[in-house]
Amino acid sequence: MSTFLSLLYLALLPTIIVTTANPDVTVYTGQATATTSAAADSTYTGLPAYDPTVLTPPPAPQPPINSYTLALPASAADLGSNYSLSIPQKGNFLGFSIELSVANTVLGEKGNELKVPFLNYMANIRDRAGAGPIIRVGGNSQEGSTIFADGLEDGESLDKIKVSDDVTATPIINYSPELLYTMANISTLLDVEWFFGLAFNETSVDGNDVNIPVAAEWAQKILGSNLRGLAVGNEPDLYVDHSARPAGWGVSDYVNEYKTVVDTIVNANVLSNSQTFIGPSVCCQREGFELDDVIAASWLSDNQDRLAAVTVQHYPTNNCDGTTQAQDIFADFLNHTSAESLTSSYLSNSAELQAAGKELIMLEMNTASCGGFPGLSDSFGAAMWMTDWALQLAWANFSAALMHVGGQNVYYNPFLPPPSSMAKVYQWTTGSVYYSALVIAEVFGSSNKSQVVDLQVDDANIYHPAYAIYEDGQPTRVVLFNYINDPTGASELTVNIASSASSVSVRYLSAPTVSEQYNITWAGQTLGVSFSSDGRLYGTEQTSVVQCTEGNCPIEVSAPSIAVVYLTDQALADSSVPQDATSTYATTVVGHGSATVEAGALSTGNGQNAPSGVSGSTSEGSTSGSLRQYCTPSLWAALGLVIWLFPVAVR
Ligand SMILES: *[C@@H]1O[C@H](CO)[C@@H](O)[C@H](O)[C@H]1NC(C)=O
Ligand SMILES: *[C@@H]1O[C@H](CO)[C@@H](O)[C@H](O)[C@H]1NC(C)=O
Ligand SMILES: *[C@@H]1O[C@H](CO)[C@@H](O)[C@H](O)[C@H]1NC(C)=O
Ligand SMILES: *[C@@H]1O[C@H](CO)[C@@H](O)[C@H](O)[C@H]1NC(C)=O
Ligand SMILES: *[C@@H]1O[C@H](CO)[C@@H](O)[C@H](O)[C@H]1NC(C)=O
Ligand SMILES: *[C@@H]1O[C@H](CO)[C@@H](O)[C@H](O)[C@H]1NC(C)=O
Ligand SMILES: *[C@@H]1O[C@H](CO)[C@@H](O)[C@H](O)[C@H]1NC(C)=O
Repeated sequence: MSTFLSLLYLALLPTIIVTTANPDVTVYTGQATATTSAAADSTYTGLPAYDPTVLTPPPAPQPPINSYTLALPASAADLGSNYSLSIPQKGNFLGFSIELSVANTVLGEKGNELKVPFLNYMANIRDRAGAGPIIRVGGNSQEGSTIFADGLEDGESLDKIKVSDDVTATPIINYSPELLYTMANISTLLDVEWFFGLAFNETSVDGNDVNIPVAAEWAQKILGSNLRGLAVGNEPDLYVDHSARPAGWGVSDYVNEYKTVVDTIVNANVLSNSQTFIGPSVCCQREGFELDDVIAASWLSDNQDRLAAVTVQHYPTNNCDGTTQAQDIFADFLNHTSAESLTSSYLSNSAELQAAGKELIMLEMNTASCGGFPGLSDSFGAAMWMTDWALQLAWANFSAALMHVGGQNVYYNPFLPPPSSMAKVYQWTTGSVYYSALVIAEVFGSSNKSQVVDLQVDDANIYHPAYAIYEDGQPTRVVLFNYINDPTGASELTVNIASSASSVSVRYLSAPTVSEQYNITWAGQTLGVSFSSDGRLYGTEQTSVVQCTEGNCPIEVSAPSIAVVYLTDQALADSSVPQDATSTYATTVVGHGSATVEAGALSTGNGQNAPSGVSGSTSEGSTSGSLRQYCTPSLWAALGLVIWLFPVAVR
């Protein structure tokens, strides 16, 4: 810890202790005001990413259902015509979308300053999925972006130019090839596969903009085979709303512009592979501007040879006008209807694209746009919902779904570095939906052959969805949900799986309530509370073994939780971190007082397996920051406010 920061914390400590004892005392930070009450009605005014609001769980439906029998067909052929298996899916299905404007703070400032916690978050996925995580860098902030091929001042990878004081205003981004080198160096360590967003605006459409071909050229050259696609345009269905295009601008204009921009890049003769573009990334099911409309306007046929994949983006709701109360919509995220209805509108597109030989990708998704909702987007309930939606999209033959990381001003981040200069010493915050990516990685595992089916069990009970995975025609895993919140124990569920197995293995995604923000475990391991994560899982991994008797394997699924059942030893092995994995990194062993590292240092074997119950530290030579144990998340958030903050773009 630097002397300056030590002094800062010492100076603040008395204030913090006072406010702990007097929850109504307001801490005046000079820049913003924060109170320390963690109640749902608190007037917390700190950064959204650390909002302590906890919602009230919806009541358990009555009467409770405590068991059902799952007769799992022994082969895919016996599933019946009502149950279709998906295309083969990979364990990296649920990945991440990182807003371009925050990419340097999440990935690393330079190619030789990678963020160790980020590497660990990705290693957790890679080790379970047997494939590198899929990450998109882009979003609204890609539209006003420019690459400076000769570099930026001080060798920076990215500069934000603030356009207004509105915290949600999208800044203009200038970036250098250093950003792409940072991405490439991450891929060297963790096989990450990237989508990257190019600018798409009026200045580029006339064909005179020489910058976009430069960006495309560098992205291909530096990322090579780790580049899965270059996005042209982001949510064009909202351009008119954002005043990025004049009123009346519509699908045919979009299709023309798309072709002009892609032609401009291809005609510059700088690409090694011209089948690299993705789009249209429509988000919002606007009448007349849906994926169907774009395809009908001959976009797909026009670009057949240039498209690497077809993309959409979606959030089920939004917090744009601030009138919706999170509590009022919490229950909408706590049953299977949501995942189904959010997916069904894409089924015909999915079939059509499969026939056209194009992958369909959900390029950006999360609970709610315009920042999400306090207490909802960061809840255990959201993690269950995200897992369900991801499985539903996989069943519908999407090839990947990417959760958005928006920055300090949003509630839904799967993970986030601490704000600004705190990043040097203090640690990361894990959002509930990160756990969904761990679960999905294990549900599909590393065989690349997992086909998923929505089983519609228990008379399609909306609180008890279940999915099965088949590999080579045989069932290998089952995913059982209990969305119900019931601390009385009255809604505990036992699913009796009819099986000839003598025993099966089970891992749980659990938390005490659907409202829980941080006390969440996957297989008994956790990433902890806000400002406490180095991206590694702590605690001992727990796998239950359930004995089956007379062809019945009783699986307990408490309310609330998700159980993943491994029907064979091979299925468990294919989902587990290999014994010889050396790919998580202690922040104590790398860097000098800062949680960053040179890629080369790690690839030569500095990694180590996550120890049990040992707390990491970003500060060389110290154990975990001892001040941290006195501070609640909200206090850390209040502390964060004294640090100068640059407003970041959010979706
Ligand atoms: C298949 O679904 C249809 C329509 O929902 C239903 O009528 C039929 O009974 C189902 N068949 C089987 C074998 O479950
Ligand atoms: C990482 O990126 C930098 C550019 O900053 C480059 O010089 C370096 O060789 C890269 N390191 C590795 C191990 O690829
Ligand atoms: C288009 O790009 C230019 C140059 O990067 C930028 O100044 C402008 O704001 C962008 N327009 C939109 C609508 O994003
Ligand atoms: C289930 O979710 C749907 C869609 O999100 C919502 O409309 C419905 O009200 C929810 N049902 C209950 C009983 O909460
Ligand atoms: C997904 O693709 C498979 C293979 O083509 C097909 O059998 C299945 O019906 C598709 N699923 C859906 C929900 O369309
Ligand atoms: C699965 O696919 C990944 C690439 O995404 C590849 O690296 C890996 O070797 C494949 N695994 C198997 C078992 O084929
Ligand atoms: C975390 O949740 C578990 C149940 O899931 C509970 O036993 C434990 O007491 C909780 N821990 C804290 C610190 O709240």
